[in-house]
Amino acid sequence: MGDASTNGRPETVEIPPETGVPVPGLEEAGLLLDVDGPVATVTLNRPERRNAMTFATWRGLAAIGRSLPAEVRVVVLRGAGPSFSAGIDLGMFSGEGGGLPDGSDPEAADRFIAELQEGYTWLRRPDLVTVAAVHGHAIGAGFQLALSCDIRVVADDAKFCMKEPALGLVPDLTGTKPLVEIAGIGRALELCLTARTVPADEAARIGLAETLVPRDGLDAAVRDLVGALLAVDAGASAATKRLLRQAAGNTLEQQSAAERREQIGRLRDLSAR
Ligand code: CAA
Repeated sequence: MGDASTNGRPETVEIPPETGVPVPGLEEAGLLLDVDGPVATVTLNRPERRNAMTFATWRGLAAIGRSLPAEVRVVVLRGAGPSFSAGIDLGMFSGEGGGLPDGSDPEAADRFIAELQEGYTWLRRPDLVTVAAVHGHAIGAGFQLALSCDIRVVADDAKFCMKEPALGLVPDLTGTKPLVEIAGIGRALELCLTARTVPADEAARIGLAETLVPRDGLDAAVRDLVGALLAVDAGASAATKRLLRQAAGNTLEQQSAAERREQIGRLRDLSAR
């Protein structure tokens, strides 16, 4: 396998703040970014490859996370063309785009994967609410991207598949934790270890879709959701997301204390207005 370089691609992608147009570096990463006031829309944009993702895509996602204007509150992730994403670009297995690290230098491989994971982890930031608008296939890295978002709005033609184990890999783009939290350990094991495809109606039944809509209603459903999210107080939204995100790992005592701390912050904020 290759040396995990970017094969001449830029290491980072510069994004002018408040851009409303495609940026050269992002285009190369197969991404479009549109920022409209408090809403940023990130489009996976390699429809001819079913939005298959490369290292440049994941670095581009990380760069978007680092560069969003402060007023952005909601981020929508969507796919252009027939699929949300077909996962990793299979060309990476044959060395295209730098190739995968071979694991012979574990520390370098660890750093390399951690950098790619950054493309996914920022989607959990409390100051943002992230929404995956999923249609068509969401496979492997694409499924994990949807899992990294706070809320999934899913079209009735969606199909989820955690393909990695079938390819001799593990899901390593931060998808295993949310999958277990959402679907439970038994279902997560069954889905991953068979690499079977989950249709939209089952995805909704097992909690992978917060909302299931007809394919032609996806954009409208996302618009309605974004409107509702923006109608809620920004500070309260961030504080509540912080609370909900830590709830599963906390004891009741810890969580009650965290609620008190956040509420005191809210009360202080409200009284200062
Ligand atoms: N990588 C590179 N090219 C891909 C691709 C991928 N993951 N998925 C699709 N393409 C390409 C196809 O090769 C095809 O190219 P040509 O037109 O040049 O032949 C084009 O996109 C259209 O694909 P299909 O004709 O197959 O389109 P379809 O709509 O009939 O099927 C699909 C769509 C079900 C997604 C199918 O393309 C498919 O199964 N793709 C492979 C999915 C896959 O195995 N992904 C890896 C997941 S594992 C992962 O992501 C690992 C990780 O994170 C570590």
